[in-house]
Amino acid sequence: MIELQNVNKWYGAYHALVDVSETVRAGEVVVVCGPSGSGKSTLIRTLNRLEPIQSGHILIDGKDIHAPGTDVNAFRSRIGFVFQQFNLFPHLTVLGNCTMAPMQLRGLSRAQAEERALALLDRVGLAAKAHAWPSELSGGQQQRVAIARALAMQPPLMLFDEPTSALDPEMVGEVLLVMRDLADDGMTMVCVTHEMGFAREVADRVFFMDQGRVLERATPEEFFNHPQHPRTRQFLSDIRSPFREA
Ligand SMILES: Nc1ncnc2c1ncn2[C@@H]1O[C@H](COP(=O)(O)OP(=O)(O)O)[C@@H](O)[C@H]1O
Ligand SMILES: [Mg+2]
Repeated sequence: MIELQNVNKWYGAYHALVDVSETVRAGEVVVVCGPSGSGKSTLIRTLNRLEPIQSGHILIDGKDIHAPGTDVNAFRSRIGFVFQQFNLFPHLTVLGNCTMAPMQLRGLSRAQAEERALALLDRVGLAAKAHAWPSELSGGQQQRVAIARALAMQPPLMLFDEPTSALDPEMVGEVLLVMRDLADDGMTMVCVTHEMGFAREVADRVFFMDQGRVLERATPEEFFNHPQHPRTRQFLSDIRSPFREA
């Protein structure tokens, strides 16, 4: 479904993505991990063209999304993107947040959009909050609404960039459970996350990034039990024992 071919990206002189060539199959759940600054957000942002690339190709369903002349809005509306900040529209209710894009971009009637949105809110456990304002919700609830809002566009692909990093710890689980539910349903997902328990349980494959390269891609079993690259071993040991002796 996603094919990256020798993708390179620079920010000015800084080489942020170095020859990335990876594929993600339809229905696959890929967790991208790696140290801060390794290029995880950059990578995921190139997948819906929030960031340009300087060389290489990114094909989604066979279409080169960075080719000149590609209709950005058309394909971007087919990719759900959930990031750290929930970014709900504060002047719209929960239901309004979930119906606006399907009405404006997909031409659904209000009744159709509301029916679809209520089903999705029910799925993320928030049907009772349909008429609440975003400011009345906890961070975990807001993030679940953000996921429902993305799903309302019926995207075949969902991208997540550290969706739980801004949450208080007790709310992380409720968001991860919604993501697991999506994965179980067969959604194709690329998730940047530090939640290694999620990676272990839900990912089909884990990508490990360092300094703009994908150094390792493996099943969670291989990744956690038999990491190949020395940088991967270092990373896993760093996150496992933050208080180890220097
Ligand atoms: N808009 C930008 N302009 C310049 N440098 C950037 C920009 N965004 C990210 N970078 C740099 O690119 C590198 C990778 O960043 P990022 O993809 O955000 O890493 P990660 O998500 O893994 O923490 C970092 O060194 C970061 O400082
Ligand atoms: Mg990041």
